[in-house]
Amino acid sequence: MKAINPTVKKDPKRPTTDVAEIRKHARANVEDGAVTEGYRADREMVLRLLNESLATEMVCVLRYKRHYYMASGIHAQTAATEFLEHATMEQAHADRISERIIQLGGAPDLNPDTLTARSHAEYVEGSTLADMLRENLVAERIAIESYTEFIRYLGDADPTTRRMLEEILANEEEHADDLKTLMERFRDT
Ligand SMILES: [Fe+2]
Ligand SMILES: [Fe+2]
Repeated sequence: MKAINPTVKKDPKRPTTDVAEIRKHARANVEDGAVTEGYRADREMVLRLLNESLATEMVCVLRYKRHYYMASGIHAQTAATEFLEHATMEQAHADRISERIIQLGGAPDLNPDTLTARSHAEYVEGSTLADMLRENLVAERIAIESYTEFIRYLGDADPTTRRMLEEILANEEEHADDLKTLMERFRDT
């Protein structure tokens, strides 16, 4: 009978077709769960960056929540609804990032003592609705730039994390666009 898996010369540019080798790798270090020999990224660095993203999302949740409760004035209702929607989405981002951290064998860092220092975005209260809108837009722009850099850094070394970050990035771009629209609408009235 012909061998199904003839020995294939190692070529880093092509996928491994040696099923026996893949099976051996899968059995070794089985306690690593989703992280296999094929994981090409620097896991420690990815975990550090994911925890920075998590801190950023949590600070954004808190800032949006504060703004949701504090929004007042003629346009408050529209803006407050938007702030609450964003807060809910940032929390969903934080949850997805935490799950990925666990999958990669890390631990989500939610220590409130160090949250703002690790976050890329800032917690700015803002005294007027215009301030709040601007601060949230700034924070979204920070998130957009951070995620874009993270995605560029990952390249194709960790496709799952990358796909998650791309989806989150698309949400942050929508948030920035929503805020810009609100700012323009308020300026015109
Ligand atoms: Fe987010
Ligand atoms: Fe956002």
